[in-house]
Amino acid sequence: MTGRLAGKVAIVTGAGSGIGREIARRFDREGALVAVTDVDEESAKRVAAECSDSAWSVHLDVTDDASVAAAMADVEGRHGRLDVLANNAGVTMRGSATSVTEQAWDVAFDINVKGVWRMMRDAWPLLVSSDGGVIINQASVASHRGMPNNVGYNGTKGAVLMMTMGAALDGAKDGIRVNCVMPGYIDTQMAEVVFQEQPDPAAARIEAAAAHPLGRLGAPLDIANAFVFFASDEAEWITGASLAVDGGLTAGI
Ligand SMILES: NC(=O)c1ccc[n+]([C@@H]2O[C@H](COP(=O)([O-])OP(=O)(O)OC[C@H]3O[C@@H](n4cnc5c(N)ncnc54)[C@H](O)[C@@H]3O)[C@@H](O)[C@H]2O)c1
Repeated sequence: MTGRLAGKVAIVTGAGSGIGREIARRFDREGALVAVTDVDEESAKRVAAECSDSAWSVHLDVTDDASVAAAMADVEGRHGRLDVLANNAGVTMRGSATSVTEQAWDVAFDINVKGVWRMMRDAWPLLVSSDGGVIINQASVASHRGMPNNVGYNGTKGAVLMMTMGAALDGAKDGIRVNCVMPGYIDTQMAEVVFQEQPDPAAARIEAAAAHPLGRLGAPLDIANAFVFFASDEAEWITGASLAVDGGLTAGI
Protein backbone atom coordinates (compact mmCIF):
# COMPACT_ATOMS: atom_id res chain seq x y z
CA MET A 1 0.00 0.00 0.00
CA THR A 2 1.37 3.42 -0.96
CA GLY A 3 0.39 7.02 -0.33
CA ARG A 4 0.78 9.66 2.34
CA LEU A 5 -1.88 7.93 4.49
CA ALA A 6 -0.97 4.35 3.61
CA GLY A 7 -2.70 1.88 5.92
CA LYS A 8 -4.23 4.50 8.20
CA VAL A 9 -7.82 3.81 9.30
CA ALA A 10 -9.98 6.93 8.95
CA ILE A 11 -13.56 8.03 9.64
CA VAL A 12 -15.02 10.95 7.69
CA THR A 13 -18.35 12.41 8.88
CA GLY A 14 -20.76 14.11 6.49
CA ALA A 15 -18.92 12.33 3.68
CA GLY A 16 -21.95 11.86 1.45
CA SER A 17 -21.59 15.21 -0.28
CA GLY A 18 -19.57 18.37 -0.75
CA ILE A 19 -16.30 18.74 1.13
CA GLY A 20 -16.70 15.48 3.10
CA ARG A 21 -17.04 13.49 -0.12
CA GLU A 22 -13.78 14.94 -1.40
CA ILE A 23 -11.99 14.30 1.93
CA ALA A 24 -13.06 10.65 1.78
CA ARG A 25 -11.93 10.29 -1.82
CA ARG A 26 -8.57 12.04 -1.18
CA PHE A 27 -7.92 9.92 1.93
CA ASP A 28 -8.71 6.82 -0.11
CA ARG A 29 -6.34 7.84 -2.92
CA GLU A 30 -3.59 8.34 -0.33
CA GLY A 31 -3.96 4.75 0.85
CA ALA A 32 -6.19 5.21 3.91
CA LEU A 33 -8.88 2.68 4.81
CA VAL A 34 -11.91 4.98 4.92
CA ALA A 35 -15.25 4.68 6.72
CA VAL A 36 -17.44 6.91 4.54
CA THR A 37 -20.15 8.04 6.95
CA ASP A 38 -23.21 10.24 6.66
CA VAL A 39 -26.69 10.61 8.16
CA ASP A 40 -27.85 10.12 4.55
CA GLU A 41 -26.95 6.46 4.11
CA GLU A 42 -27.55 6.38 0.35
CA SER A 43 -25.13 9.24 -0.31
CA ALA A 44 -22.49 7.56 1.87
CA LYS A 45 -22.91 4.39 -0.18
CA ARG A 46 -22.49 6.30 -3.44
CA VAL A 47 -19.27 7.93 -2.25
CA ALA A 48 -17.87 4.66 -0.91
CA ALA A 49 -18.51 3.19 -4.37
CA GLU A 50 -16.36 5.98 -5.86
CA CYS A 51 -13.46 4.88 -3.64
CA SER A 52 -11.31 1.75 -3.67
CA ASP A 53 -12.55 -1.56 -2.31
CA SER A 54 -10.99 -0.85 1.10
CA ALA A 55 -13.53 1.95 1.77
CA TRP A 56 -16.95 1.18 3.19
CA SER A 57 -20.10 3.16 4.01
CA VAL A 58 -21.59 3.58 7.46
CA HIS A 59 -24.83 5.27 8.49
CA LEU A 60 -23.77 7.81 11.12
CA ASP A 61 -25.85 10.59 12.65
CA VAL A 62 -23.52 12.72 14.77
CA THR A 63 -26.47 13.85 16.93
CA ASP A 64 -27.27 10.30 18.02
CA ASP A 65 -25.14 8.69 20.76
CA ALA A 66 -26.12 5.16 19.71
CA SER A 67 -25.28 5.85 16.08
CA VAL A 68 -21.85 7.27 17.00
CA ALA A 69 -21.11 4.29 19.26
CA ALA A 70 -22.21 1.84 16.56
CA ALA A 71 -19.94 3.46 13.98
CA MET A 72 -16.95 3.24 16.33
CA ALA A 73 -17.76 -0.42 17.03
CA ASP A 74 -17.94 -1.06 13.29
CA VAL A 75 -14.48 0.46 12.73
CA GLU A 76 -12.99 -1.38 15.69
CA GLY A 77 -14.54 -4.66 14.55
CA ARG A 78 -13.11 -4.31 11.05
CA HIS A 79 -9.66 -2.96 11.77
CA GLY A 80 -9.12 -3.01 15.53
CA ARG A 81 -8.02 0.61 15.55
CA LEU A 82 -8.60 4.16 14.32
CA ASP A 83 -5.90 6.60 13.19
CA VAL A 84 -7.79 9.60 11.78
CA LEU A 85 -11.11 11.23 12.66
CA ALA A 86 -12.26 13.87 10.15
CA ASN A 87 -15.11 15.76 11.84
CA ASN A 88 -16.67 17.37 8.79
CA ALA A 89 -20.47 17.07 9.19
CA GLY A 90 -22.12 20.45 9.60
CA VAL A 91 -25.10 22.58 8.67
CA THR A 92 -25.75 26.29 8.14
CA MET A 93 -28.06 28.36 10.29
CA ARG A 94 -29.16 31.67 8.82
CA GLY A 95 -30.45 34.46 11.02
CA SER A 96 -29.50 37.45 13.15
CA ALA A 97 -29.63 37.57 16.95
CA THR A 98 -33.28 38.58 16.71
CA SER A 99 -34.45 36.48 13.75
CA VAL A 100 -32.80 33.09 14.33
CA THR A 101 -35.23 30.59 15.83
CA GLU A 102 -34.43 28.55 18.92
CA GLN A 103 -35.25 25.39 16.99
CA ALA A 104 -32.69 26.21 14.26
CA TRP A 105 -30.19 27.17 16.97
CA ASP A 106 -30.58 23.84 18.77
CA VAL A 107 -30.37 21.77 15.58
CA ALA A 108 -27.18 23.48 14.39
CA PHE A 109 -25.47 23.39 17.78
CA ASP A 110 -26.36 19.71 18.13
CA ILE A 111 -24.73 18.85 14.79
CA ASN A 112 -21.88 21.37 14.51
CA VAL A 113 -20.77 21.51 18.15
CA LYS A 114 -22.09 18.55 20.14
CA GLY A 115 -21.60 16.31 17.10
CA VAL A 116 -17.89 17.16 17.03
CA TRP A 117 -17.65 16.54 20.77
CA ARG A 118 -19.53 13.21 20.60
CA MET A 119 -17.24 11.99 17.84
CA MET A 120 -14.07 13.07 19.69
CA ARG A 121 -15.32 11.46 22.92
CA ASP A 122 -16.10 8.10 21.37
CA ALA A 123 -13.12 8.02 19.00
CA TRP A 124 -10.65 8.91 21.76
CA PRO A 125 -10.02 5.40 23.17
CA LEU A 126 -9.41 4.04 19.68
CA LEU A 127 -7.16 6.93 18.72
CA VAL A 128 -5.14 6.49 21.93
CA SER A 129 -4.35 2.92 20.97
CA SER A 130 -3.22 4.03 17.50
CA ASP A 131 0.41 4.99 16.97
CA GLY A 132 -0.31 8.71 16.60
CA GLY A 133 -4.02 9.42 16.39
CA VAL A 134 -5.30 12.53 14.62
CA ILE A 135 -8.52 14.56 14.86
CA ILE A 136 -9.25 17.20 12.21
CA ASN A 137 -12.27 19.41 12.80
CA GLN A 138 -14.09 21.37 10.11
CA ALA A 139 -14.20 24.95 11.33
CA SER A 140 -14.79 27.96 9.02
CA VAL A 141 -13.87 31.55 8.25
CA ALA A 142 -16.94 32.04 10.47
CA SER A 143 -14.85 30.69 13.39
CA HIS A 144 -12.85 33.91 13.53
CA ARG A 145 -14.75 36.48 11.45
CA GLY A 146 -18.32 37.68 11.89
CA MET A 147 -20.79 37.06 9.08
CA PRO A 148 -23.99 39.09 8.70
CA ASN A 149 -27.21 37.20 9.43
CA ASN A 150 -25.22 34.20 10.71
CA VAL A 151 -24.93 34.77 14.45
CA GLY A 152 -25.70 31.15 15.35
CA TYR A 153 -23.44 29.66 12.67
CA ASN A 154 -20.68 32.00 13.88
CA GLY A 155 -21.29 30.64 17.38
CA THR A 156 -21.02 27.01 16.31
CA LYS A 157 -17.86 27.48 14.29
CA GLY A 158 -16.22 29.65 16.95
CA ALA A 159 -16.88 26.80 19.34
CA VAL A 160 -15.25 24.29 16.97
CA LEU A 161 -12.10 26.43 16.85
CA MET A 162 -11.83 26.63 20.64
CA MET A 163 -12.75 22.96 21.14
CA THR A 164 -9.89 22.13 18.80
CA MET A 165 -7.40 24.04 20.95
CA GLY A 166 -8.70 22.63 24.22
CA ALA A 167 -8.78 19.06 22.94
CA ALA A 168 -5.26 19.49 21.53
CA LEU A 169 -3.95 20.09 25.05
CA ASP A 170 -5.75 17.02 26.39
CA GLY A 171 -4.68 14.97 23.38
CA ALA A 172 -0.98 15.84 23.64
CA LYS A 173 -0.47 13.57 26.65
CA ASP A 174 -2.46 10.80 24.94
CA GLY A 175 -0.53 10.99 21.65
CA ILE A 176 -3.48 12.53 19.79
CA ARG A 177 -3.08 15.61 17.60
CA VAL A 178 -6.13 17.86 17.14
CA ASN A 179 -6.24 20.54 14.43
CA CYS A 180 -8.87 22.36 12.40
CA VAL A 181 -9.32 23.76 8.92
CA MET A 182 -11.11 27.09 8.32
CA PRO A 183 -12.50 27.14 4.78
CA GLY A 184 -13.65 30.23 2.90
CA TYR A 185 -16.67 29.91 0.58
CA ILE A 186 -16.49 26.45 -0.95
CA ASP A 187 -18.54 25.59 -3.99
CA THR A 188 -20.92 23.00 -2.51
CA GLN A 189 -24.62 22.58 -1.94
CA MET A 190 -24.26 24.50 1.34
CA ALA A 191 -22.87 27.59 -0.41
CA GLU A 192 -25.46 27.26 -3.19
CA VAL A 193 -28.29 27.45 -0.63
CA VAL A 194 -26.87 30.72 0.66
CA PHE A 195 -26.59 32.14 -2.90
CA GLN A 196 -30.14 31.05 -3.72
CA GLU A 197 -31.46 33.06 -0.78
CA GLN A 198 -30.16 36.26 -2.38
CA PRO A 199 -32.28 38.37 -4.79
CA ASP A 200 -29.79 37.63 -7.60
CA PRO A 201 -28.09 34.27 -6.90
CA ALA A 202 -25.76 34.48 -9.92
CA ALA A 203 -24.56 37.94 -8.88
CA ALA A 204 -24.13 36.75 -5.27
CA ARG A 205 -21.92 33.90 -6.48
CA ILE A 206 -19.74 36.28 -8.53
CA GLU A 207 -19.52 38.70 -5.60
CA ALA A 208 -18.50 35.90 -3.20
CA ALA A 209 -15.81 34.67 -5.57
CA ALA A 210 -14.46 38.23 -5.99
CA ALA A 211 -14.26 38.69 -2.20
CA HIS A 212 -11.51 36.05 -2.09
CA PRO A 213 -8.21 37.73 -3.06
CA LEU A 214 -7.24 34.66 -5.10
CA GLY A 215 -10.28 35.41 -7.25
CA ARG A 216 -12.45 32.31 -7.06
CA LEU A 217 -14.59 30.23 -4.73
CA GLY A 218 -12.83 27.32 -3.09
CA ALA A 219 -13.26 23.78 -4.39
CA PRO A 220 -13.86 20.82 -2.05
CA LEU A 221 -10.43 19.56 -3.12
CA ASP A 222 -8.74 22.68 -1.70
CA ILE A 223 -10.04 21.69 1.73
CA ALA A 224 -9.50 17.95 1.31
CA ASN A 225 -5.82 18.61 0.56
CA ALA A 226 -5.45 20.39 3.92
CA PHE A 227 -7.13 17.44 5.67
CA VAL A 228 -4.63 15.08 4.03
CA PHE A 229 -1.74 17.17 5.31
CA PHE A 230 -3.03 17.25 8.91
CA ALA A 231 -3.81 13.51 8.77
CA SER A 232 -0.35 12.63 7.49
CA ASP A 233 2.85 12.13 9.45
CA GLU A 234 4.15 15.33 7.78
CA ALA A 235 2.11 17.18 10.43
CA GLU A 236 3.40 15.12 13.36
CA TRP A 237 4.54 18.22 15.32
CA ILE A 238 1.39 20.26 14.68
CA THR A 239 -1.46 20.31 17.17
CA GLY A 240 -3.99 22.92 18.26
CA ALA A 241 -3.51 24.64 14.91
CA SER A 242 -6.16 26.30 12.75
CA LEU A 243 -5.39 26.57 9.05
CA ALA A 244 -7.25 29.17 6.97
CA VAL A 245 -7.85 27.72 3.51
CA ASP A 246 -9.80 30.66 2.16
CA GLY A 247 -8.09 32.17 -0.88
CA GLY A 248 -6.88 35.04 1.32
CA LEU A 249 -10.40 36.05 2.44
CA THR A 250 -9.39 36.65 6.06
CA ALA A 251 -5.87 37.97 5.37
CA GLY A 252 -6.97 41.61 5.24
CA ILE A 253 -8.42 43.92 7.84
N1 LIG B 1 -19.35 25.16 1.82
C1 LIG B 1 -18.76 26.17 2.46
O1 LIG B 1 -18.65 27.29 1.96
C2 LIG B 1 -18.17 25.94 3.83
C3 LIG B 1 -17.34 26.93 4.38
C4 LIG B 1 -16.77 26.74 5.63
C5 LIG B 1 -17.04 25.59 6.35
N2 LIG B 1 -17.86 24.64 5.81
C6 LIG B 1 -18.11 23.44 6.61
O2 LIG B 1 -17.73 22.29 5.90
C7 LIG B 1 -18.53 21.17 6.31
C8 LIG B 1 -19.11 20.49 5.07
O3 LIG B 1 -19.90 21.44 4.38
P1 LIG B 1 -20.34 21.25 2.85
O4 LIG B 1 -20.27 22.58 2.21
O5 LIG B 1 -19.64 20.10 2.24
O6 LIG B 1 -21.90 20.94 3.07
P2 LIG B 1 -22.86 19.81 2.46
O7 LIG B 1 -24.22 20.25 2.87
O8 LIG B 1 -22.56 19.57 1.03
O9 LIG B 1 -22.44 18.50 3.27
C9 LIG B 1 -22.74 18.31 4.62
C10 LIG B 1 -22.91 16.83 4.88
O10 LIG B 1 -23.17 16.64 6.27
C11 LIG B 1 -24.17 15.67 6.40
N3 LIG B 1 -24.86 15.80 7.68
C12 LIG B 1 -25.80 16.71 8.04
N4 LIG B 1 -26.26 16.44 9.28
C13 LIG B 1 -25.59 15.34 9.72
C14 LIG B 1 -25.63 14.58 10.90
N5 LIG B 1 -26.48 14.88 11.89
N6 LIG B 1 -24.77 13.53 11.03
C15 LIG B 1 -23.94 13.20 10.01
N7 LIG B 1 -23.87 13.87 8.85
C16 LIG B 1 -24.69 14.93 8.71
C17 LIG B 1 -25.11 15.91 5.21
O11 LIG B 1 -25.92 14.78 4.93
C18 LIG B 1 -24.11 16.23 4.11
O12 LIG B 1 -23.71 15.08 3.41
C19 LIG B 1 -19.55 21.73 7.29
O13 LIG B 1 -19.10 21.53 8.62
C20 LIG B 1 -19.57 23.22 6.96
O14 LIG B 1 -20.00 24.01 8.06
C21 LIG B 1 -18.43 24.78 4.58
